[in-house]
Amino acid sequence: MSHPLAEKKVVLGVSGGIAAYKAVELSRLLVKEGAQVYVVMTENAKQFITPLTFEALTGHPVYHEIFGGEASASMEHIRAAENADLMIVAPATANSIGKMAHGLADDPLSTLFSAFAGPVLIAPAMNDKMWSNAAVQENLRTLKKRGVEIIDPEAGDLACGTVGLGRLAEPERLLTVVRKGLLRQSDLSGLRILVTAGPTREPLDPVRFITNRSSGKMGYALARQARSRGAEVTLISGPTHLDPPFGVTLLNCQRTGEMAQLVLDHLPRCDVLIMTAAVGDFAPESVQKEKIKKNGEKSFMLKLHPTQDILKEVAQQKSNQVIVGFAAESENIVQSATEKLQRKQLDLIVANDISAPGIGFQSDNNQVVLIDRNAQVESLPLLSKTEIADILLDRILGQLNER
Ligand code: CTP
Repeated sequence: MSHPLAEKKVVLGVSGGIAAYKAVELSRLLVKEGAQVYVVMTENAKQFITPLTFEALTGHPVYHEIFGGEASASMEHIRAAENADLMIVAPATANSIGKMAHGLADDPLSTLFSAFAGPVLIAPAMNDKMWSNAAVQENLRTLKKRGVEIIDPEAGDLACGTVGLGRLAEPERLLTVVRKGLLRQSDLSGLRILVTAGPTREPLDPVRFITNRSSGKMGYALARQARSRGAEVTLISGPTHLDPPFGVTLLNCQRTGEMAQLVLDHLPRCDVLIMTAAVGDFAPESVQKEKIKKNGEKSFMLKLHPTQDILKEVAQQKSNQVIVGFAAESENIVQSATEKLQRKQLDLIVANDISAPGIGFQSDNNQVVLIDRNAQVESLPLLSKTEIADILLDRILGQLNER
């Protein structure tokens, strides 16, 4: 039997919800894959499952009391847990999420979380009304901002007798996310990755500008995933409403010229450039110092000139970097994107159909096609931008390894 997680150490945090029984199954699956599993439980979790169950399954003492008790006396195991490769909290109740978001440490789970420096996954489970509570959502946002990955609950029958969003994700899904997290953990360490994101903004006068509908979500997801996989990441961003990903160097800009300057300045010090930004192709020929008045005119002519093509200049200045472009197309997707890849001398291009409803711009999901220099075409299904980011980073790593 293969043990893909052999030598990996995982902390499984269990808080008090009916879904705690799924944590038993998750611990069994993790052990089956070869992982060393250290379970930490809250007082309430013990109302649903006994520590003995986890001890029998994992072969390690369970940390379930801060003061007293055999396991809590065993500092050795607590130290081992603190130095584990990954921590997953499943189920995470609203109460535990609140404590983790606010730095409270008054039970074994929240205490261990506050001392844990590695990557953390949180799989919430609660009643649908609690899930949509503004404070719970705010706490989850806070944790996300700090680099914690949230495994969203699923819709279905809830323990309280209602049907809605709040069921803990199934153990197999949790295992998949843990596996991915562990195996990809530091596969990009040592790499310097430059990512551009969001729209550019070209001013007309002090109050008006030309821009586009890019939200920046794809570029931010790439920056976040690359960082969590160990890369040193610089994110050059046009104006967005997104929180900067944890641990990433963020450089803000507005106009195409500013973005171009930042990219070209950082190019020599990076191994990979991913141009996710929706760079505006035209800018007003001149920017008025004062606000433009109507002056009773029936029409208004705006003279635009083409902006700098950043990737074209990158092609002239690059050395051995992997260069990735994005192409938003509305027809002949593969053909148009392939031509763009060749014209801009890219190693990889990510194309998407902007005419398809509900995906792409502004959305959290997208359906894209990856095309490489050898005209290999890979069509991905509809996925979250985080999932697309990880697949794209896998392909980039593949290209780097081939060199
Ligand atoms: N891009 C760039 N500089 C520009 C415009 C685009 O570097 N002035 C980059 C984008 O970041 C993207 C890729 O080029 O990675 C393709 O962008 P797109 O707008 O689809 O291509 P264009 O060259 O503008 O071609 P067209 O608009 O004619 O399709």
